[in-house]
Amino acid sequence: MSSVEDWAAPNPVTENRSGLIGKAVDRYEGPLKVTGTAPYAYEVVPPSPAAYGVMVPAAIASGRIAAVDIAAAEASPGVLLVWTHLNVPEQGARGTKVNPRSTATAAPALENDRVAYFGQPVAFVVADSLENATAAAHLVRLTYEEAPPAADFHAHLADAAMPRGEEDTEIGDFEAGFAAAPVTLDQTWHTPLQNHCQMEPCATLAWWDGDRCVVHTSIQMVKPAQHGLAETLKIDRDAVHLLTRYIGGGFGGKGQAYDDLALAALGARAIGRPVKVTFTRQQMFHGTVHRPATVQRVRLGATADGKLTAMSLMTTTHCERNGHFTEHASNFARSLYAAPNRLTGHRLVKLDLPGAGPMRAPGEASGMLSLECAMDELAETLGLDPVELRIRNEPERDPETGKPFSIRQLVRCMKEGAQLFGWDRRLPFPGKVRDGRWLVGMGMAAAIRGNFLLPAKASFTVDAEGVITVRQGMTDIGTGTYTVLAQIAAETLGVPLKDVRVEIGDSELPPAPGSGGQFGAATAGSAALDAGMNLRKAIAELAASDPDSPLFGGPSEQVTFQDGVIAIANRSESLADLIRRARPEGLTAQGEIRPAADARNWSQHTYGAHFAEVGVDTVTGEVRTRRMLGVFAAGRILNWKTARSQLTGGMIWGVASALTEGNAVDPRYGSLINQDLASYLVPVQADIGELDAIMLDEVDDKANPMGIKGVGELGISGAGAAVANAIYNACGVRVRDYPITPDKVL
Ligand code: MOS
Repeated sequence: MSSVEDWAAPNPVTENRSGLIGKAVDRYEGPLKVTGTAPYAYEVVPPSPAAYGVMVPAAIASGRIAAVDIAAAEASPGVLLVWTHLNVPEQGARGTKVNPRSTATAAPALENDRVAYFGQPVAFVVADSLENATAAAHLVRLTYEEAPPAADFHAHLADAAMPRGEEDTEIGDFEAGFAAAPVTLDQTWHTPLQNHCQMEPCATLAWWDGDRCVVHTSIQMVKPAQHGLAETLKIDRDAVHLLTRYIGGGFGGKGQAYDDLALAALGARAIGRPVKVTFTRQQMFHGTVHRPATVQRVRLGATADGKLTAMSLMTTTHCERNGHFTEHASNFARSLYAAPNRLTGHRLVKLDLPGAGPMRAPGEASGMLSLECAMDELAETLGLDPVELRIRNEPERDPETGKPFSIRQLVRCMKEGAQLFGWDRRLPFPGKVRDGRWLVGMGMAAAIRGNFLLPAKASFTVDAEGVITVRQGMTDIGTGTYTVLAQIAAETLGVPLKDVRVEIGDSELPPAPGSGGQFGAATAGSAALDAGMNLRKAIAELAASDPDSPLFGGPSEQVTFQDGVIAIANRSESLADLIRRARPEGLTAQGEIRPAADARNWSQHTYGAHFAEVGVDTVTGEVRTRRMLGVFAAGRILNWKTARSQLTGGMIWGVASALTEGNAVDPRYGSLINQDLASYLVPVQADIGELDAIMLDEVDDKANPMGIKGVGELGISGAGAAVANAIYNACGVRVRDYPITPDKVL
């Protein structure tokens, strides 16, 4: 590897703090998105008119399909095929693979007669129109042998077991430390099951070009989906061309492929024309993963002057019968506060419910709703300001691993936030501030979320027009990937943004891990920076060796790149002129990033502090957020606008988890009761008062060559706890059962 190998080497691009990197640049694909002309997978125009596939969901949560009658569906107008497990084409057996180097294994659709969850796709209809396919789907007759589902999490808490391959982490002697503490807290919090509710449902459009399958699908990670489909179809993985150009929200729910992918590909092969399949809005709730509910027990022991001596967060959560996903709600507590005696861990209950999976800030989003409220309660017990209590427990090194922090500006986030928010106007006792029939209060919470870097590649090409094209098998789930890649290209090659094209979301492009775990921008961006620096070098060498160039003779190390012009002192020519003359077919360079060898020597996180002011209606119990401020430290920011948007979006999601959001399970049927965006309540613009996110100046030189970190999951982490703490400060009611609906406040 090349220029980014040595992260400490001087780099004219990353050191230019007045350049494009970091600027509040508008979204690259913004005009396409807001005019509805960025085609989602279902909207891509195929080479010939597509037929429409509709999935039939199971009506039971547990059991088997005893009998099938598809005669009426097959006879229905426009129907091209009807499949159940009895006649679906052969697929790879679950978990197997035929391509030895694939990153995924086969996941057959309509696999067998078993039903593992309510809403599982159990039949598939393709017809000439969506209406005909939908009508025929209703005519598929399935007879079930039902087994009573175990779907009630709270009724099955006694079944909780240690998750596979995990153990609790204990430092010191928690029980002894807790027993000896002069001041203690022991409380339990509940968070509900939540659904991602992406604006764009999961969907796939597939067609075959000879033996090659072309699929446009809505997914966060390109390679696993490409490889998984190849295994399911039992074909060479290079025979699958998977594209995901524009994505209407992911949040972790599109981190995996669902049956729409295999069924569209199989259907298109069977009928010899393109097939597109979408989950309906209702089907999304059962057919894709959710954030599972949790029960979290927090125990804190402290000295009278507010030093934690014992700290425990134990989480019980659930996943599907055959699954292993664990909502790691206790993990963040391992790095947040100092305490000599510590115990954290998880227990898992297997239920007959749809799959549990990652959802924005998996772990922190749920877990910070307990511990950050417990800290508020402890502060009150001790007569300390909640900010002060946290400062008194600020660790010097990672409290569990003992590793040094790469950089940790949590205290600065809290102090600057407190000042900007007017935290000194908060009264320490609840129920004292009135505004008409509203009681008003303030609350705060810390934010922490891990930071990661994964291996990735990228390529940059300059053409004879001087236009730079970025190519990377990366995704943009609404986060700003297109935009930050364009900024990095423009900055490294010294061209205006309008002269950059970004091509992502394609399995034939240099591989990148995709979007998730807030690693996307740092990972994709670091590979892009490397490609940009390599292309710079190649261009400089081309100019220096071209007798027709004013830059002939070099020295190539001194070539500067600005406004589409390359120069050495007062010798210059346009980038386009050079390429047109010396390399008319274009010049390409590759880039790559890998985690540094010593990456694990550091405790590396992103941090923040949330401040919230709420009003509680003393008549109805309704809570309104009036003001919210988040102050964050997340490394160098690539784009102030898209980063702030990620952070404020996360904070609004935190308001949702505090006040409105959660699905209810019907234990009789193993089904989720809310199945649309009318009954699944999330805040809208009118629910959010003043809201701002501020990013501290920070460069994490242990993170990657640009010193950037992720922000996509930081904003939600802790935000809901600040709201819950503000509710207590307003009206004196502690609600530990989320969401905090009016009935619980009154
Ligand atoms: Mo994420 S919840 O790792 O997309």
